[in-house]
Amino acid sequence: MSIATAQAHPNIAFIKYWGNRDDNLRLPVNGSISMNLDGLFTRTTVNFSASISTDSLLINSKSITGKGLDRVSYILDLVREMAKINEKAEVTSENNFPAGAGIASSAAAFAALALASSRAAGLTLSEAQLSVLARRGSGSASRSIPAGFVEWQMGQNEADSYAFSIAPVDHWNLVDCVAIVSSSHKKIGSTEGHAIAGTSPLQNARVTDAPRRIEICRNAILKKDFEAFANIIEHDSDMMHSVMMTSNPPLMYWQSATVEIFHQVREWRASGLPVGYTVDAGANVHVLCLGEYAKDVEKRLREIPGVSNVLVAGVGGGARLV
Ligand code: PMV
Repeated sequence: MSIATAQAHPNIAFIKYWGNRDDNLRLPVNGSISMNLDGLFTRTTVNFSASISTDSLLINSKSITGKGLDRVSYILDLVREMAKINEKAEVTSENNFPAGAGIASSAAAFAALALASSRAAGLTLSEAQLSVLARRGSGSASRSIPAGFVEWQMGQNEADSYAFSIAPVDHWNLVDCVAIVSSSHKKIGSTEGHAIAGTSPLQNARVTDAPRRIEICRNAILKKDFEAFANIIEHDSDMMHSVMMTSNPPLMYWQSATVEIFHQVREWRASGLPVGYTVDAGANVHVLCLGEYAKDVEKRLREIPGVSNVLVAGVGGGARLV
């Protein structure tokens, strides 16, 4: 087979990945936990052909060159090396959600690329191997390979830094209501952010404490303890943003509406509505709730000034061939 199509969901991190111990291999300084987002997806087709002279990339019908294409070719090179082929490839990709706005478009993109390119090259990789390959494109992409609720173990080396499912899609009816505050492309992407994370004096404390937060978060998910879950995801998100704000140069991803949503979410929770927030490297706020409250939460978020849209996503499956 020289052509294959794969689809993957983005994921939202509950315990965040921020900073690498090896930037080139994307080996993280701490483990992380996430959930895949159903309904949002990237679908990618890879076609290796002897009649093509260079790799090419089309995202949502737009031709991409430069750094974007280089990152894709980097993964294609790893696949060519494993499969012992040297054909160049045509990569065509479509997203159904805004890119570069804290909805981890690169996670879905590199997970779909890892699966489609390896299959198109004739390889059948295990889930762990696919997760490693996706990780090389974007760390968080390692978590979009397995289904449902996922943990990425930091590992000791290149081969054992991969993600696995800790609970299946139907384990817990959690819903992510993503309040869109800004859909513009962020100025400093996560690749540059990871590289400067260590310049914050708070990063060491965040990393040292990570195993504790992972344990609490994993247990909260396994026991479906929403209160413990909401408390730990907010705490972890606030810790990552504290590192971002105190790095050199400082990164401030929040907008005023982002902070307004934090206040509202905490008030709603205090008055009995099970909700909790988390924010990736952008201004948009992911408000997690139990499925039965999603309509109410969506309506409340839409009423907050500065919120231009709300995307609603349940728990998503793993990357798959289509
Ligand atoms: O995978 P990257 O390099 O785009 O990094 C993702 C970083 C965060 O989204 C901020 C946190 C995470 O764990 O997804």
